[in-house]
Amino acid sequence: MKVAIGCDHGGINLKPVLVDYLEKKGIEFKDFGTYDKASTDYNEYAEAVSNAVASGEFDKGILICGTGIGMSIVANKIKGIRCGHCHDVFSAKMTRLHNDANVLALGERVVGPGLMVEIVDAFLSTEFSYDERHMRRVDKIKAIENKNFK
Ligand code: RB5
Repeated sequence: MKVAIGCDHGGINLKPVLVDYLEKKGIEFKDFGTYDKASTDYNEYAEAVSNAVASGEFDKGILICGTGIGMSIVANKIKGIRCGHCHDVFSAKMTRLHNDANVLALGERVVGPGLMVEIVDAFLSTEFSYDERHMRRVDKIKAIENKNFK
């Protein structure tokens, strides 16, 4: 599995914990920035990570900002991205099982490092259910994308 990760200044303290987790698990990843605490715009990291996932180069994306909200809003504007904004383990698992989410958005100002690792672990280790009803609903999401995005 290849994972694209990114954060803004609001997620800069939590990203090293994510990097440590991915390294310990032996998961291949690329860090799309930001790389320091200077104030920056979440938009560009969310767009870069989402494009890397939508292109098929990466299997999953993980985005961290202060709340996860800005990152998730941007990610869900990219065709092919289903971003789950999850601050609990149950939601992280369900957004894989039911929504086939391919990007996870997290807020450093909302969750601590221990919970973040458990959320990420649930997200990365849970497969889509492939139940007919969930496939139908994901297909309906794709149909909306095809109507509204080039
Ligand atoms: C930055 O202060 C903050 O607005 C950003 O990290 C994020 O929380 C936006 O949704």
